[in-house]
Amino acid sequence: MNVLVIGSGGREHALCWALNQSKNLNKIYCSPGNAGTAKISINVDIDQSNFENLENFIKKNKIDLVIVGPEKPLVEGIVDFLEQKNIKVFGPNKYSSKLEGSKTFTKLICDEYNIPTAKYKIIKNKNDLLNIHNEFSLPIVVKADGLAAGKGVYICNTKHTFDKAINEIFGGKFGQANKILVEEFLDGEEMSFFIISDGKTFKFFGTAQDHKKVGEGDVGQNTGGMGSYSPSRLENKILEKKILDRIIKPTFQALKNKKNEYKGFLYAGLMIVKNEPYLIEYNVRMGDPECQTILPRLKTDFFEIIYSCINQNLEEINIEWLDQKSLCIVLCSLGYPEDYKNLIPIKNLNNLSLKNNEFIFHAGTKLHDGEIISNGGRVLNFTTLSNNFRSSRVNAINLINNLNWENGFFRKDIGFKVIDK
Ligand code: AMP
Ligand code: GLY
Repeated sequence: MNVLVIGSGGREHALCWALNQSKNLNKIYCSPGNAGTAKISINVDIDQSNFENLENFIKKNKIDLVIVGPEKPLVEGIVDFLEQKNIKVFGPNKYSSKLEGSKTFTKLICDEYNIPTAKYKIIKNKNDLLNIHNEFSLPIVVKADGLAAGKGVYICNTKHTFDKAINEIFGGKFGQANKILVEEFLDGEEMSFFIISDGKTFKFFGTAQDHKKVGEGDVGQNTGGMGSYSPSRLENKILEKKILDRIIKPTFQALKNKKNEYKGFLYAGLMIVKNEPYLIEYNVRMGDPECQTILPRLKTDFFEIIYSCINQNLEEINIEWLDQKSLCIVLCSLGYPEDYKNLIPIKNLNNLSLKNNEFIFHAGTKLHDGEIISNGGRVLNFTTLSNNFRSSRVNAINLINNLNWENGFFRKDIGFKVIDK
């Protein structure tokens, strides 16, 4: 079997790594990949949105299965396109991907199926805002409707920041905006909850918690993710049942009622308020960096799980997990998420020796004349497993210190809520 993974981040390196553990695979390709995927797969550089070029490559190289990492090609309909060409592909179709691509689509499903979520209003123009401060009290959450690479969310503590958010979104900061979502602020603890589905059945695929803010103590600007840990401290069977019964099952039912199925990973971003789950958002893919903490805990052959989804017999697979605590720290380029120096050599990387509970997943890296150089703001992910989060964090920090990359910085407090209570 030959597999193509689409994407270039830490998530895709972790996907390639997990596939590479399988005995049933021949070649793994990754497009475009990074310097990490280059070690275990064949990197090819094809534009993710150029479906025809992808199809030609897939046919020419006898690829049996495509796994799509990021949301953009999913929302653009890559799955529908490839399936029409009889190519097997793991990921949700264009309709189901609206769960991530359109926040208002998801809210309407929540209304119709009584899924717990924040109270909201859809704003189409400024007249819709006339009564808004009678309907919502501060803080108010404001969201751009389409894909905004995780950046289109404002938590507004004052009327002034609220007005600014509305003006920025209607002003086109995240692309053309016809709709804005205004939402009640939920005060609780977040949890990333993952499901894998073959269209007929679905299974739990772990929990995690990421840290989006750049600064220690979860302060400062939002980023793509500075680190994560798995499992979430909130994970328990009673909560899991509530999430499945009140949120996941009605969502899949809603898609079925529209004659759609959901195949792929589903990532529910939840707020847990006094032990009750509320849906904040859906993503139609694995989380990044959550994926880099979840996959190292997986005991079952990853490729077999994915392939069972393609054949719609996920039901027969027993997904097993290591009991260990997994923690990932992201090493970033100094200055990120604002301006940073790029294309800086990372000299020491090949000298680090890793134990079998330690992993380095590349994100923004590439090869240049045989040398690994940085290629983005989030550069390397250091994941370690152990019996407790504290020692996982110590081990990850030791690895980063041993690397001693002069252009890097990282948060030393990843997992503080489960470690430094
Ligand atoms: P995002 O960029 O979509 O991940 O969201 C940025 C931050 O806003 C995340 O930490 C979300 O959990 C948080 N957030 C989004 N909606 C709400 C809400 N209704 N109440 C509280 N926090 C929220
Ligand atoms: N970790 C957040 C995301 O993947 O969207």
